[in-house]
Amino acid sequence: MAVDLLLGLQWGDEGKGKIVDVLTQNYDIIARFQGGPNAGHTLEFDGIKHVLHTIPSGIFHENAVNLVGNGVVIDPVIFKKELDNLKKFDLDIKSKLLISRKAHLILPTHRLLDAASEASKGKAKIGSTLKGIGPTYMDKTGRNGIRVGDTELSNWKEKYRALANKHEAMIDFYAAKIEYDLKELETEFFAAVEVLKELTFIDSEEYLHQAQKSGKSILAEGAQGSLLDIDFGTYPYVTSSNTTAAGACTGLGVAPGKIKEVFGIFKAYATRVGSGPFPTELFDNYGETMGRVGNEFGATTGRPRRCGWLDLVALRYAVQVNGVTQLMMMKGDVLSGFDKLKICTAYEYKGKKISHLPYNIEAENVKPIYSEMKGWREDLTKMNSVEQFPTELNDYIEFLEKELEVPIKIVSVGPDRTQTIHR
Ligand code: GDP
Ligand code: IMO
Ligand code: MG
Repeated sequence: MAVDLLLGLQWGDEGKGKIVDVLTQNYDIIARFQGGPNAGHTLEFDGIKHVLHTIPSGIFHENAVNLVGNGVVIDPVIFKKELDNLKKFDLDIKSKLLISRKAHLILPTHRLLDAASEASKGKAKIGSTLKGIGPTYMDKTGRNGIRVGDTELSNWKEKYRALANKHEAMIDFYAAKIEYDLKELETEFFAAVEVLKELTFIDSEEYLHQAQKSGKSILAEGAQGSLLDIDFGTYPYVTSSNTTAAGACTGLGVAPGKIKEVFGIFKAYATRVGSGPFPTELFDNYGETMGRVGNEFGATTGRPRRCGWLDLVALRYAVQVNGVTQLMMMKGDVLSGFDKLKICTAYEYKGKKISHLPYNIEAENVKPIYSEMKGWREDLTKMNSVEQFPTELNDYIEFLEKELEVPIKIVSVGPDRTQTIHR
């Protein structure tokens, strides 16, 4: 049986959580493959709004097993809080939520290193969520990390101590001085590790291999977005993992040939939280309206998201890098009432018109070239079929399909599970 992927095509927060929740009824296993609690995936159903950070977005469905894959980094303290929030739902967590032994742990000192690094960068800061993501992946690739499976070994606390001591020396090295009480943080950390250890740890690549052999269907849930990819994103203003399709292979141990559908998800406009270039960013009433109507505040940090017009140069790039087979357009409802809609179809770059994403997309290098379309006035949030769509919305969708050469199969018209229209 094949594995399908669901990936964000922009700078994150496209609505991945919502769509994974909608699609889970079709799958046996939902697996996160990268990122960590820098993610905030929002689900809404039955009047409840839920934000998940590390736990896959299929957790509320009876039928599916949820797996935290080897490519994910786990902060036991945040994980414990997520589990606490789930208690009232009476889910069978022990059998429904599995953790890869090869996933790396975020230590309290990783978070402190993140804070010291960002504070030292001043204006050049990445705008990190400060969850310790960068330092944890650095220890992973530096071959110093501590993995979930290590906590099952008797000597893991010695390994922890040696690494934490090294981190403390590194924290001192930064120009910016940060205050912290490591003893207190460690008490919380070790208590949370004990809670984590009550869950089921597995050799997840073997589990997934057997699952595929026995015909089980698997959906891999991406975190962040393609433009935050460590290789293909707007470096250095990116996260520290491969958020693109290939990340699912390394983050789960799934062979490339096993991947079938690649669902690419994007907002009908664009947002970014944190620093870094954003060619179509708006500083006017249109941008302000997107932020206000779209409730564009980070699900993890609460920071306001920067807003702008849809950028097809960037989106085309993401479609190519990921091999997207089906598109899903989110938050079309937010654009209701806009008199006009602009879509960036090319950039002016060094005096030339280009339609691919160049190495450098800072404002001084690229100027967006826009097509303009008429907006729609109708409220989309109560609509439940394509037949009810206003002509201008159909025109917008068809224009995007033509430009991107991939069909848009789902149009989301509100945050709730039910506000999802299949085309
Ligand atoms: P994720 O990180 O990709 O899972 O996305 P987030 O949950 O961080 O951000 C998406 C936000 O938009 C959440 O608050 C969702 O509840 C909300 N949302 C998702 N789809 C829609 C939609 O079609 N319309 C509106 N208005 N909100 C949506
Ligand atoms: P989801 O999965 C949006 C951004 C941060 C920052 C940069 C690096 O909810 O879409 P990091 O904490 O990884 O060091 O931050 O990446 N970022 C996200 N932006 N959605 C996310 O996740 C993000 N995860 C990280 O704002 O600019
Ligand atoms: Mg999010």
